[in-house]
Amino acid sequence: MARAKISLIGAGNIGGVLAQLAAQRELGDVVLFDVVEGLPQGKALDLSHASALAQTDVRILGTTDYADTANSDLYIVTAGLARKPGMSRDDLLATNLKIIRDVSQNIKRYSPGAIVIVVSNPLDVMVWALKEITGFPRERVLGMAGVLDSSRFRYFIAEKLGVSVRDVVAVVLGGHGDSMVPLPRYCSVSGIPLQRLMDQPTIDAIVKRVQGAGGEIVGLLKTGSAFFSPAQSAIEMAESILRDQKRVLPCAVYLDGEYGVSGIYMGVPVQLGAGGVERVFELELNASEQALLKKSSEHVQGAISSVTL
Ligand code: NAI
Ligand code: 2OP
Repeated sequence: MARAKISLIGAGNIGGVLAQLAAQRELGDVVLFDVVEGLPQGKALDLSHASALAQTDVRILGTTDYADTANSDLYIVTAGLARKPGMSRDDLLATNLKIIRDVSQNIKRYSPGAIVIVVSNPLDVMVWALKEITGFPRERVLGMAGVLDSSRFRYFIAEKLGVSVRDVVAVVLGGHGDSMVPLPRYCSVSGIPLQRLMDQPTIDAIVKRVQGAGGEIVGLLKTGSAFFSPAQSAIEMAESILRDQKRVLPCAVYLDGEYGVSGIYMGVPVQLGAGGVERVFELELNASEQALLKKSSEHVQGAISSVTL
């Protein structure tokens, strides 16, 4: 049986780690694409030199030619600028939109049947733009943010309680920005509700840290943004799709009335399998959670309204 083909558009910080994880997990043959001549080829060759040690047989090709991505099963798009200190994700919009236009047209041309995971920021607008430009159905275009934001939430809870992060369940919905909506009521440690384990001021402080976690890393790195955890997050999504695992993960998906929102992308829990986004789950929210989600969706809607494709 032929291996799956995964194309990574953008061979920067996240793209490089994605290639390494995809190869190590043997998700399929990997094509690493970038517009900077030498960068994808160099990273692909370096990773190939490690394949004997990583005990992986998958092929890793570096390229600046989109034709090499033809007939991919899955794309992960990280092309674009990353944040520098003092920048918001929205500050990247104009530059990254131009890049996403080019990426979308090439994906549509070379792999019209592919599933696409977008990572580039501002995430909710970039993934919406890619769907609009390719015309792909909503099942096949999704964005990575909620897996990362929830993973950060899980880590901060585990760190505070001194428990294994593996036993912490945490959910973050909404747009991937300061208005994201961590949901403490839906968090637990092996089924024990978070609110029985922590007082409200501690939970509030963790929620605030989750919302600012991307900025915290940018402030420390100074030359770019987080890349290990974003790559790991996107690979979780890719693996669920390529291995038809049916995992339920918070992802940015095109909403069509769910949560009272239509025509934009926002993070909600979905089932990921061979068909891409196979199911959208609607959580029961109380009035204050609904208000926060509405505010987050209005922020995304505002950003989308400012865009001409
Ligand atoms: P990076 O700067 O290391 O890599 C980006 C790569 O895109 C560069 O190698 C650049 O040459 C390439 N590129 C530029 N124009 C291109 C084009 N037209 N076609 C193909 N490639 C092109 O950035 P990094 O750290 O890998 O981040 C990538 C993106 O992911 C950024 O927009 C960043 O803000 C975003 N991000 C999103 C997260 C999320 O949760 N959704 C988390 C972290 C970062
Ligand atoms: C992050 O959350 C900057 O979106 C990026 O790390």
